[in-house]
Amino acid sequence: MKPLRIGLIGYGFMGRTHSNAYIQVNNFFDLEYRPVLQAVCARDAEKAKSFAAKWGYQSIETDWRRLVERDDIDLIDIAAPNNVHAEIAIAAAKAGKMILCEKPLALNGPEAEKMVAAVTKAKVPNMVWYNYRRVPAVTLAKQLIDEGKLGRIFHYRAKFLQDWTISADLPQGGAGLWRLDVKVAGSGVTGDLLAHCIDTAMWLNGGIDSVTATTETFIKQRKHTLTGKVEKVGIDDASLFLARFSNGSLATFESTRYARGHKALYTFEINGEHASIFWDLHDLHRLQYFDHRDQGAVRGWRSLHITDSEHPYMKNWWVPGLQIGYAETFVHQVVDFIQGLSKGKMAGPTFKDGLATDYVTDAVLKSAKTGRWEKVKKAR
Ligand SMILES: NC(=O)c1ccc[n+]([C@@H]2O[C@H](COP(=O)([O-])OP(=O)(O)OC[C@H]3O[C@@H](n4cnc5c(N)ncnc54)[C@H](O)[C@@H]3O)[C@@H](O)[C@H]2O)c1
Repeated sequence: MKPLRIGLIGYGFMGRTHSNAYIQVNNFFDLEYRPVLQAVCARDAEKAKSFAAKWGYQSIETDWRRLVERDDIDLIDIAAPNNVHAEIAIAAAKAGKMILCEKPLALNGPEAEKMVAAVTKAKVPNMVWYNYRRVPAVTLAKQLIDEGKLGRIFHYRAKFLQDWTISADLPQGGAGLWRLDVKVAGSGVTGDLLAHCIDTAMWLNGGIDSVTATTETFIKQRKHTLTGKVEKVGIDDASLFLARFSNGSLATFESTRYARGHKALYTFEINGEHASIFWDLHDLHRLQYFDHRDQGAVRGWRSLHITDSEHPYMKNWWVPGLQIGYAETFVHQVVDFIQGLSKGKMAGPTFKDGLATDYVTDAVLKSAKTGRWEKVKKAR
């Protein structure tokens, strides 16, 4: 196996999921490359050292620029907050590195365009960590749709509900709370949660032409962790939009961090002329499937347990009937990235796909301001 020397930026939530994936991947999948945990970068040297020791990284850096310049790094993995994605990715592309970047690709479409231009010019392999595509049940949904099992699609319905920002005492900004600071996050639930729903939706059901949206910021002011002052909140706490897909189907999308009782309730339902499917992140190893062509007496919603060897990715894990979970979606993403390298054909979502999602979130945020339907720019 050839080494694929990783330079990871950010050791938080995603830094852990990515590191776990690099460590696991060759134990379960036969691949041409083996990720090598070459260096982790974070601004706090002590914390970076302790992360490196725990996860097995060979070295640390405290400035990402230094990491990007290193000759012994093949791939830069950006697992830091949204406001630094563009600068790091553009520098990494110029240095000829492969790039895996967390979602959303950038703070907005124009910034993402520069990232796409940089990787296109440098011809470096690139991917965005929209990991939900690689939940086996979601990948199966894609296969069923591509095989035409659903027929013409009429409706797409997605939700991503959480409840962790309801308290008005919660500050904004700084470690762990950067998602509430619009300068760092770019937007609220639109870019954080709906971006996932949009990526999955466009992968399953094609492009989105236009949207009409409404957003709300329920808590208007919060203390900022870094300044110590009470400051205006610039993010959207809740975001709801209607969409028209290019294939003629209609959609509703809803996301909020104020749905008491829900932690990460990402669900989608798709209704076609022959069949419908429903998926729920809290029950991620199941796909609900209804086929109108079933014999009448036994026709009904089937709850498919996605653990058989014929299900996507599953033959590489345990035995039929035994489940995998969230962490493995990141393993699958590394598998597909490496297989793409071997074939010379990149697996999605590429930066261009990430830009397409940023164009939709831009249109959603614009529509929430104008109160009108807004056309979505197409990523070319
Ligand atoms: N794919 C998913 O499902 C998913 C889930 C959560 C987060 N994310 C995305 O991953 C990214 C990181 O989110 P997270 O939840 O891991 O955040 P986090 O707060 O847990 O970790 C962020 C890390 O980035 C580091 N960091 C911040 N600024 C830096 C800089 N200038 N240089 C180097 N390191 C820096 C922090 O020290 C920290 O280690 C975000 O873009 C987020 O939207 C994706």
